[in-house]
Order: sequence, then C-alpha cells, then structure tokens
Amino acid sequence: MNIVITGASKGIGFQTAKILASKSENRIFAVARNVESLNNINNNITPLAWDITQMPYKPLVEEIKKWSGGKVDVLINNAGIILNKKFEEISPQEFDLQFSAHVKSPFFLIQALLPLFSEGSHIVNISSMGGFQGSVKFSGLSAYSSSKGALAVLTEALAEELSPKNISVNAICPGAVQTTMLEKAFPGLKAPLSDEEMGGFLADFALNGHRFFNGKILPVSSSTP
Ligand SMILES: NC(=O)c1ccc[n+]([C@@H]2O[C@H](COP(=O)([O-])OP(=O)(O)OC[C@H]3O[C@@H](n4cnc5c(N)ncnc54)[C@H](OP(=O)(O)O)[C@@H]3O)[C@@H](O)[C@H]2O)c1
Repeated sequence: MNIVITGASKGIGFQTAKILASKSENRIFAVARNVESLNNINNNITPLAWDITQMPYKPLVEEIKKWSGGKVDVLINNAGIILNKKFEEISPQEFDLQFSAHVKSPFFLIQALLPLFSEGSHIVNISSMGGFQGSVKFSGLSAYSSSKGALAVLTEALAEELSPKNISVNAICPGAVQTTMLEKAFPGLKAPLSDEEMGGFLADFALNGHRFFNGKILPVSSSTP
C-alpha cells in the first residue's frame, strides 16, 4: 500500500506511520514541518518537510507522484495544531490558522491528490471529539472544535462526491490521547490512551476501515474529553 500521512513527526501521526512502516508491503510518505524523528525508522518511510498550510501543493504533489509512481492507496489527514484561548481573545489570524490546518489543507490536499488515488482507496480525516456533533465541548476550544466539526462535514460531503471514483472517506474523532498536543490543551490530564495505542487503531482503520464504513464520523473515545 502507498500511504500518505500528514503530521507524522510526533504523537498519533508518528506512531501510526511507524506501525504502518513495520509491514514490508507498506510504503509511507510522511509529511511534517520537522522530519528529523522520521529519518531512522526504516526504508519504508519517506519523510518530507512541508508546512501543510503552505499552498500551492504542486511541489508536494510532484514529490508524492515521483515516490508513488502515480498511485496513492491511503491518505491520512492527521496534521493538527490546537488553540486553547478565550473566545473573545482569538484573533482572525489564529482563527484562520485553525481552519487552514484542519479544513483548507485537507480539502486542497485531497483535491491535489485526486488523480493519484487508486480504485478502492481510503481517505481518513482526523477530526476530534471536540468536533463531533453533540459531544461535550470545552471552554477555550471554540476555533479548534469548530474547525474539526467542519472537517467532519467535509468528510460526509466528499464520501458522497467521490463514491463514483470508488474512493472512501471517513473521519476519526479521537478523545484524549497522551501527546504534546493534549498536554498543551489540558495540562496535567492523564489520557486513557497512549499515542502508540491510538496509532495502532488508526493504522488498522486506514487499511481496513473502508470495507465497513464510508462517510462516517466515528468517535474513538473511552473518556471525556
Ligand atoms: N491528542 C489528543 O488528545 C487528540 C484528540 C483529538 C484529536 N486529535 C487530533 O489528532 C491529530 C494528531 O494530534 P497529536 O495529539 O498527535 O498532536 P501532536 O503530538 O502535537 O502532533 C501534531 C502533528 O501535526 C504536525 N503539524 C502541525 N502543524 C503542521 C503544519 N502546519 N504542517 C505540517 N505538519 C504539521 C506536527 O509536526 P510538526 O510540528 O513537525 O510540523 C506533528 O507531527 C491532530 O489532528 C489532533 O487535532 C488529538
């Protein structure tokens, strides 16, 4: 499988990339701004330093084309950055960064990779319990959670629009996972899951989940948040 994953330098994305790369049949194209952590895993991983909020994506897509020979089977839109700030203090720039990282970037990366997706390919968008409709919400996360909610609706819309091309699109909404992001948003909180555990779930879901789900927004959480 040719697998592209964004936000692969640490946390959930790093563990997912590492687990996928442990199987010889997988080749991983791993994107993040800092890729040092990805350099010495194994030859199944090709790291590329790229800020996913930077467009146009042409140079990134050219690299993916060269690497994949023109065929991508799985895309995991995982890159994310949390903003925990009082609603009345959030600036337009901070708001834009949340929507750029969590909505605009997945939107245009999917669009740019469309010619490369194989028949039966799977796009997995990493949303959040904060972006899951009807979930408990947290003060300070208005821009983050609303951007993750938009990503969830984008998932539903694209699952419909891309189904004639036999491309499945699903969203995973993790609850608390022990990563630097969680420590920043909720200092001192002990999450019930490690990044390695969530990475294991996500690696399996990315490879097999589209046999069971399409256009689904799936909460993956045993806690609040
Ligand atoms: N941890 C949780 O409890 C939790 C809960 C719900 C949802 N999530 C979601 O799960 C995903 C992974 O989160 P995490 O907890 O693993 O966070 P993390 O440890 O902070 O990792 C975030 C990843 O995203 C990358 N990234 C951030 N901005 C980027 C940009 N502009 N361009 C390219 N890469 C970028 C970071 O790499 P660089 O800094 O090297 O670029 C890093 O690899 C996120 O989408 C997050 O919203 C996490």
